[in-house]
Formats: sequence, structure tokens, C-alpha cells
Amino acid sequence: MPDPGMIVPAGEVALSVRDLCKTFGRGTKAKQVLMGLSFDVHPAQVVSLLGANGAGKTTLVNIASTLMLPTAGTVTVCGADVVTRPRQVRQCISLTGQFAAVDGELTGKENLIFFARLNGLSRAAAAKRADELLERFRLADAAGQRAAKYSGGMRRRLDIAASLIVEPQLLFLDEPTTGLDPLSRRELWEMVDELRGQGVAILLTTQYLDEAERLSDDIVLLREGRKVSQGSPAQLRQRFGASICKIGLDEATLAQKVATSVLPGVLGRAQDDFTVDALEVTFTALNGAEDLIAANRAIIASGIEITSTSLTPPSLDDVFLGTAFVSGTEPVEGV
Ligand SMILES: Nc1ncnc2c1ncn2[C@@H]1O[C@H](COP(=O)(O)OP(=O)(O)OP(=O)(O)O)[C@@H](O)[C@H]1O
Ligand SMILES: [Mg+2]
Repeated sequence: MPDPGMIVPAGEVALSVRDLCKTFGRGTKAKQVLMGLSFDVHPAQVVSLLGANGAGKTTLVNIASTLMLPTAGTVTVCGADVVTRPRQVRQCISLTGQFAAVDGELTGKENLIFFARLNGLSRAAAAKRADELLERFRLADAAGQRAAKYSGGMRRRLDIAASLIVEPQLLFLDEPTTGLDPLSRRELWEMVDELRGQGVAILLTTQYLDEAERLSDDIVLLREGRKVSQGSPAQLRQRFGASICKIGLDEATLAQKVATSVLPGVLGRAQDDFTVDALEVTFTALNGAEDLIAANRAIIASGIEITSTSLTPPSLDDVFLGTAFVSGTEPVEGV
């Protein structure tokens, strides 16, 4: 149970991961799953580990939450080393695993009371805390129902409520929204925002780019156990790919003319760089808004009317796919 007196001093790191390596098995069967991973999570910060299946996300969460030993490197939680001071680490953290840990045979309230009692709360305090959490997670109406009858979203909320019986300094959420409907996902996102607002440090793992983009202060892009990039959503977007410019015309022949003769000249680009889809011309704006403005001016100057124009920054999908398929990418240090 977290000791309420143990507050992370301002400026201290809630989670520090340095040169972390994990290898499963030995000899010819050895499998390197994490290879020199380093990053930090600060109080009141959400850091997302973004990676595909098998990237090593759960392995990292398991090591940082003292469920598994690292092969090399160091991990500290609120200043305590996970290998040498696991008990102290456990006092600062909560974990919501990839697979829900609630007992389907018990009601929602019984589940929470059970976890509260495990955390050392008295019978009365456990019941009170359960009621507070059921209210907060909009489960009060279903408090007396067996958890087996809950929807996926309700079970997920109950699972997270259980991990917040005693509010942690560092919360691990391993793919918390996998399998949730859009409404439940949004609710969970709001809950993450709220916890961050209260100063909780959160390490979240996800395969969803929109989720990482929506929630994170910092994103660690993980591929096959290596960090391939790290930065804020805006930094990653900037680093990986230019914006897409779309210009709408009112006739297909004009769209062709714009794509083949007007724009290649004015932007100094090959005709192949422009694609036409019915009335719309699309191209990558290598110079961002400057390209959009230059293109619009040139089209208007040639007497052609523009019906719509837009510049869309690259999504994290572009970021993700861009790096996911670069073979031999080395880990990026100091980013
Ligand atoms: N106990 C283990 N023994 C051997 N290999 C393991 C063990 N645990 C995980 N692995 C392997 O390590 C790799 C990373 O697994 P991990 O569960 O960390 O990935 P993940 O990023 O969480 O994936 P997912 O998105 O599917 O949850 C996988 O190839 C997995 O098969
Ligand atoms: Mg996992």
C-alpha cells in the first residue's frame, strides 16, 4: 500500500529506465526482447509506449512493476531500484494489466472490497472506498451485479478502479482500452487526464496511435525491443513526414491541368508528385504552408477557380508506419 507520506519530491523522476535489456531463454533459444531501452516518466506526466504486438511493452511493464527481473540495465521507481528494493517500489505503484484481473463471480462492489482489504483497509474503510470508486467510475448502479455480467468497458473500469484503491504515484496501464467501444475509450481517456491533473505519473502502453497522440506528453516508439524514436506527439509528427496538401477544383479537366502543368512548374517538382482524384489534387507539402500558399497563388493566377484547400499534418499513423518498415533502424539515443 502506498505510504501517503511518501511524496515524490518536485523534479524527481517517477520512473527511470536506463539501458534496459531483457532476454528470455538461454543459448540457441535465447530471445532478446528488450535491447537497451532508456526513458523517464515524471510526476503529472503521461508517457506512452507505442508499439505493435510483441514489441516488448508488457515485458517492460512487468519489469518496472517488479513482476519480472531485468537481464541488464536499471529501472528505478520514485528513486527505488526495482531489483534491490522491490517492496518500496510496490508501495508507489499500481498496475492495470493487459488482461482484466477482476473476479467474475464477485459483484463489482465485492471485487473492490476484496482489493481494498488486500491493501490493508479495515472492513468499514474498504466498503467506503469501494462506494467512492463505484461512483467515480459510473458503476454505482451495477455495484450489486456479478462482474461476469459486466460489459467489457464496465469490467475495464472496475479493473482500473481496483488499481486505484490507494492512489499511486506511478500508474501502469497496459493497453487499457483494447477491446473497448469508442464511448468507453473516451471515458478512460478522461480518467487518465484527471489522474495526471492530480499529479500521478502514468506509463501507458498502446497500439493505438490516436490514443498515444491524445493522451501523451511523451511517446516512446518501440519496435522489436528498441526505441526507434521519442518525443511529444507534435515533435514526432514533425520528425516523420510532411503535411498533405489537397486542393479542390470544380472540373476534372482543370484538376488534371493543375496537376500536370501548373503545380509541377511553380513548386519545382515532378508530375508524379501530384495525384488527381476526381476534382481533387493531392501532394506532399514538403515546405508546409509555404507550398500551400504558392500553389494557391499559381492556380488563381492562371485563372482557375479553387473550391477547397487544406493542409493536414501527418498523423501518428504516418509516424508509426514510417518507422515500422524502415529495416535496420538503430535505436535513437538522446532524443
Ligand atoms: N515469459 C516469456 N518467455 C519467452 N518469451 C516471452 C515471454 N514473455 C514475452 N515473451 C516474448 O517477448 C516478446 C515481447 O512480448 P510482450 O508481451 O512484451 O509484447 P507486447 O509489446 O506487450 O505485445 P502485445 O501488444 O501483443 O501485448 C514477444 O515476442 C513474446 O513472445
Ligand atoms: Mg502486451
